[in-house]
Amino acid sequence: MPGKIILTGDRPTGRLHIGHYVGSLRNRVAIQNAGGYEKMFVFIADAQALTDNFDNPEKVRQNIIEVALDYLSVGLDPDKVTLFIQSQIPQLTELTFYYMNLVTVARLQRNPTVKTEIALRGFNAEGEEQAFGSGLPVGFFCYPISQAADITAFKATDVPVGEDQKPMIEQTVEIVRAFNRIYGETLVEPKAVLPSNAACLRLPGTDGKAKMSKSLGNCIYLAESADEMHKKVMSMYTDPQHINVSDPGHIEGNTVFTYLDAFCRDEHFGLYWPEYANLDELKAHYQRGGLGDVKCKKFLEKILNEELEPIRARRKEYEKDIPAVYDILKKGSEVAEAAAQATLDDVKKAMQIDYFNDRALIEEQARRFTSI
Ligand code: TRP
Repeated sequence: MPGKIILTGDRPTGRLHIGHYVGSLRNRVAIQNAGGYEKMFVFIADAQALTDNFDNPEKVRQNIIEVALDYLSVGLDPDKVTLFIQSQIPQLTELTFYYMNLVTVARLQRNPTVKTEIALRGFNAEGEEQAFGSGLPVGFFCYPISQAADITAFKATDVPVGEDQKPMIEQTVEIVRAFNRIYGETLVEPKAVLPSNAACLRLPGTDGKAKMSKSLGNCIYLAESADEMHKKVMSMYTDPQHINVSDPGHIEGNTVFTYLDAFCRDEHFGLYWPEYANLDELKAHYQRGGLGDVKCKKFLEKILNEELEPIRARRKEYEKDIPAVYDILKKGSEVAEAAAQATLDDVKKAMQIDYFNDRALIEEQARRFTSI
């Protein structure tokens, strides 16, 4: 479809894991390969990562290449998608500054991500309680605004993200509406593109905890070796009441089945477990009793390996020429900068701060000062 512009990004604070994969990366590759869009951008949100890692730039710096390798290895193709680094596009910062006028402090305080962080940072360095939210750096407080700049700079229409990012897209839509109302139709309203499968919206950690997180050690990384993954799958959280194989088992909250919901397709049964036709049959047997966890885990491991093997292989190839990966990001950043500049020009014109291009203004002022 002409006019469709896809954009999304990730913070470089660690390697990407299979939660990112089912929540967004897999979707992006499908969109990329289906075609039918005008442009597609995927970027590394390092400036945003610095809003809560400003004291650890080395972490962000190290993880840029990790995320870039993850992107390329899942199959994002630099010939089809512009891959770039956020901090290299100064126009994004400039847009953020103008958008700051369109958002109230109260509105930012209601953003769920900001709200959580305010609660955590309500204390100063001495441990004394601060006035509501005052311990939060302004940079972090404003990052929903900077995210609106990321999206609107490229006139993005479709933003494939995980569910947690929905409030950020809503905030962007509000900024777009306010801008267009005040300064005239200039910016494009985006929409979030979420995975349709519930298990993919938020894949739990291998320990059954709500979220995969590096600090909990419950992630399966895209770059994980088959050996490491084997250990993680075999120790996955299942149903604590399913003690003997003959016991009836529970599916709800059972991580192995949540992962199967996210990864398993009917053809996997033909390939690896022909006793069942589909996941519903397998679940029914588990619930009846008589089916052990280890068998289910082995099946899941086969499916995960099938999906991750080509990703691991592609990563190995790209790892052989790291300077070439930086070069991809550099070229992409040049393309992205030109696109963002075009939007910034539109924005400055709409706000009437494009003084040197504004012939009417210059002539009007000239008349004013000479006609008396
Ligand atoms: N906030 C996103 C995350 O934490 C990353 C991000 C920054 C992003 N800017 C964006 C995502 C613009 C989509 C569009 O994953």
